Amino acid sequence: MKALILSGGKGTRLRPLTYTGAKQLVPVANKPILWYGIEAIAAAGINEIGIVISPETGEEVKAKTGNGSRFGVKITYILQEEPAGLAHAVKVSQSFLQDSPFVLYLGDNLIRDRLQEFLAKFQQQQLNGLILLHEVKNPSAFGVAKIDDRGRLLQLIEKPKDPQSNLALVGVYFFDRTIHQAIAEIKSSPRGELEITDAIQTLIDRQYNVQAMQLSGWWLDTGKKDDLLEANHIVLDDFLETKIAGNVDSDSQIYGRVEVGKGTQLINCTIRGPAIVGENCHLENCFIGPYSSIANDVTLIDTDIDHSVILSGAKIVNIHQRIVDSLIGQRAQLILASKRPKAIRFMIGDDCKIELMS
Ligand code: DAU
Repeated sequence: MKALILSGGKGTRLRPLTYTGAKQLVPVANKPILWYGIEAIAAAGINEIGIVISPETGEEVKAKTGNGSRFGVKITYILQEEPAGLAHAVKVSQSFLQDSPFVLYLGDNLIRDRLQEFLAKFQQQQLNGLILLHEVKNPSAFGVAKIDDRGRLLQLIEKPKDPQSNLALVGVYFFDRTIHQAIAEIKSSPRGELEITDAIQTLIDRQYNVQAMQLSGWWLDTGKKDDLLEANHIVLDDFLETKIAGNVDSDSQIYGRVEVGKGTQLINCTIRGPAIVGENCHLENCFIGPYSSIANDVTLIDTDIDHSVILSGAKIVNIHQRIVDSLIGQRAQLILASKRPKAIRFMIGDDCKIELMS
């Protein structure tokens, strides 16, 4: 059994963060989303992993993730020259996959369930394909499955305008080698991509044994800002444990589950967990509220933050209004330079959004 993780694509929905970086490396609870998938695959006992990368962000993914030794697996990187679809990504990975069965894992998906149970069903029943489903409120944004009243899979449609059910296709699939023939037969979709959904439909039409299982835990597709904040919230809630490696002075207070990384200094701060502060940060006179993740090398002075994700190297000084539900990019600076500012000076990247609220 092998695994193929897709970490290419354009990441347009997380712009501007993804102009300069891969969306799969955006951190959730200070860990790149992609790494959760690698860890889940390694925990299921699969140790040969191919990661599909794009020319734009591939080097960054490689540099950060390495050869797999830190996860106890072997990683092979596969370049997909253009984001021509999930099935296209499988196609360009054929020399890595060969005839092996594999789990296909979308690098921006996070699931609570362990892969073991699904893998066992796929292997024991010698299925040609196993897909995972989850109920969603906005099925039109996903691949959607129609099943009969006995749970048998009837039809899959990619991003239907008029969805026939609220069961979305989760970005984790199990296939044997028959998928390659199906991919060879499909044509590009109206959005110009070779869709894995269409390839699975081809297997169903040819009476191959494709089954579906529903997830029991949460599933997060971290495509947009609010999804990412929700993922951060849920992962901190479920997995964070207290660990204080940095320096917390006697004027600071810590409540609930909080992690503070090594080399970080907290001076006169209050942190209410679950919250995580990375390594080598400087926090002075700050309040950090629940469900906040502060990455490495961040400076926060006289600042209140709640339910937000701050990426590495950011600097926020003297912002007394509480910063809520925010996502602040790497090395971004938010600085109040005078006590009663008469003007505001901005340098804001493309596609940014700033809301000043009453
Ligand atoms: O998240 C689940 C959904 O993922 C499913 O419900 C849909 O059926 C499936 O088509 C897919 O839809 P998305 O539109 O959300 O896929 P997206 O373009 O975001 O790509 C998913 C991941 O695969 C992402 O990490 C980028 C990567 N990718 C994408 C494309 C199109 C590649 O590596 N190469 C590609 O060509």
